[in-house]
Amino acid sequence: MPTLIARNLKSLEKALSSQRIKKKKIGLVPTMGAIHDGHLALVDKCLKLSQVTVVTIFINPMQFNNKKDLKNYPTSIRKDISILTEKKVNIIFIPKIKDIYPSDFSTFIELKKFDNMLCGKNRNGHFSGVATVVLKLFCLINPRVAFFGEKDFQQLFIIKKLVRDLNLNIDVQAVKTVRDKSGLALSSRNRLLSKGEKNIASKVNIILREISLKNLKSIKSILKKTSKKLYSEGVKKVEYLEVRNEKSLESYTYGKLGNNHYRVFVAVKVGKVRLIDNLRLTK
Ligand code: PAJ
Repeated sequence: MPTLIARNLKSLEKALSSQRIKKKKIGLVPTMGAIHDGHLALVDKCLKLSQVTVVTIFINPMQFNNKKDLKNYPTSIRKDISILTEKKVNIIFIPKIKDIYPSDFSTFIELKKFDNMLCGKNRNGHFSGVATVVLKLFCLINPRVAFFGEKDFQQLFIIKKLVRDLNLNIDVQAVKTVRDKSGLALSSRNRLLSKGEKNIASKVNIILREISLKNLKSIKSILKKTSKKLYSEGVKKVEYLEVRNEKSLESYTYGKLGNNHYRVFVAVKVGKVRLIDNLRLTK
């Protein structure tokens, strides 16, 4: 099947209906474009685990609470299409804003939990915007399986929760964070970094890796030191730096680890660019 590019709802439906008749297993990879190897790890897994791979490219205005951030978000549609076509993705869905949010659109997913911490704390409505657009994509595409990256761990957590809470028949698959040689997590936003800023960004993961499980007893003071180190390496702002349980997103309090896994979560500003990362501390 050659790659089909659907730029509106009608052509998406046309592309999907023949696959639905054949009862093909549809896999979905939602993205905001500026495709990089992190996205492609999701695409590869989707190609492996489903019969029809749909990649969506949509910069979702509802999840940006800062107009400048939205305006500056990198785009490279032509290059994205060429990369995804080469990968033999079956359908690329590139909707217009009015396809997803017609002028009378008024229904939003409200999260009662998990959006008032980490990336949700200072970004009002961010995860409501993410959950709403992802649910819309689920409704439009009706995938059997969908792929999300651990790089955006809280987002992955919230989408898994959405699927459970709403009894959606979708298998949410997590994909490990893809990094460059220095350890920097690949991100579309990395394109906005100058060379010097990229060097600073590369230090973030190296510094996080120094936090070890052995030190969890004195985690508060370690995080303080880590934060100081980040600033001294040139990070402009540490928005958060926290250790949380990856199953519940509860903050770590010293005690028995049991079978629980803990992750350190960080959001920093390097120059004007906001970057996030997370790392599992327990084996
Ligand atoms: P975007 O930032 O384009 O990311 C699309 C998907 O790629 C997400 O699931 C993200 O976690 C994953 N991803 C990004 N960088 C990665 C990396 N270095 N390694 C592994 N996976 C990576 O996340 C979004 O778009 C949007 O919020 C979206 C889910 C599309 C809703 O608008």
